[in-house]
Amino acid sequence: MKIVVYHSKAYDIEFLDRANARHGFDIEYVDMTLSQHTLRLAQGAECVCLFVNDPVDAGIARQLADAGVRLIALRCAGFNNVDLEACREHGITVVHVPAYSPWAVAEHSIGLMLALNRGLHKAYCRVREGNFALKGLLGFDMHGKMVGIIGTGRIGSVAARILHGMGCHLLAHDPVHNPECIELGVRYTTLETLYRESDIITLHCPLTPETRHLIDADSLAQMKDGVMLINTSRGAVIDTLAVLDALKRRKIGYLGLDVYEQEAGLFFEDLSDEIIQDDCLERLLTFPNVLITSHQGYFTRDAMERIAETTLHNIACFARGERSGNELT
Ligand code: NAI
Repeated sequence: MKIVVYHSKAYDIEFLDRANARHGFDIEYVDMTLSQHTLRLAQGAECVCLFVNDPVDAGIARQLADAGVRLIALRCAGFNNVDLEACREHGITVVHVPAYSPWAVAEHSIGLMLALNRGLHKAYCRVREGNFALKGLLGFDMHGKMVGIIGTGRIGSVAARILHGMGCHLLAHDPVHNPECIELGVRYTTLETLYRESDIITLHCPLTPETRHLIDADSLAQMKDGVMLINTSRGAVIDTLAVLDALKRRKIGYLGLDVYEQEAGLFFEDLSDEIIQDDCLERLLTFPNVLITSHQGYFTRDAMERIAETTLHNIACFARGERSGNELT
């Protein structure tokens, strides 16, 4: 089976090639996002392998089907970038990698919290320049603080376990109550209570019509002054303009983002010689209490191995006419 892997970087190729030694698929790598301009590269392939910012709307689904594509293999967990209904209509099966390392993303979220709290991003630069002063680096004990977790699935529950180990008190909001979290002592509550009582709020829910701009001017108004907000889920779960305004008013005390609403075309690319046109992102980067990473929460060796193995396993099952269990409907 021929597979075209879009948006493939050297690290994707390394892990996919290694996993493919057991399968022997004919893989073509393309270092470009799937779009109207790059669709033609899928001609003759039965499968396209996509990542988080490769969009498949109804038009692209139809053109992929016309090109002969029968399988979209997402090498990620989230699937908000794919119109599943349109794929179904055009006879395209969509598979994803539901779980590869919840630890990778949860640990990155905690990393953002600790770095912001203790100013590690500033301290790193300061000390290298011979500035050993502590002014501006005053942090707080994580122990005893109230952390609100929105979404306690695979990643949110690992975050809960780590934070529990650090002595934090935990509130959560999720339509599904995770027994593992309840056992830890996590208290499920309404969003209103979570907003009102949390010192730190961390987002681990998927992007759905219901969660789009969940964090907006109204929800921010309900939060504690100086709240720490962490988002490693999907950029559009927060209304970035509302967050920008809250930062200017010091309503938000710390902001850690691994995802950004308009990240497509920016994140994963080296644009250090370019003029960035996104004024909102550029403004965010001017705040001393904002730490942004470019969607690297998943990026550990362990996770990359599992992503490559599961992606090719999903494709192999499809090729044999079997279900992998990772089909999206
Ligand atoms: P999961 O499906 O195991 O858990 C998601 C949880 O969110 C579920 O418990 C679900 O009931 C809950 N949820 C759904 N709607 C909700 C709502 N309106 N309010 C509160 N909770 C709600 O997913 P998992 O594996 O924990 O991943 C969570 C998200 O993390 C993914 O959807 C993806 O967007 C993001 N992610 C980010 C990565 C990164 O590199 N930054 C990597 C992997 C995932």
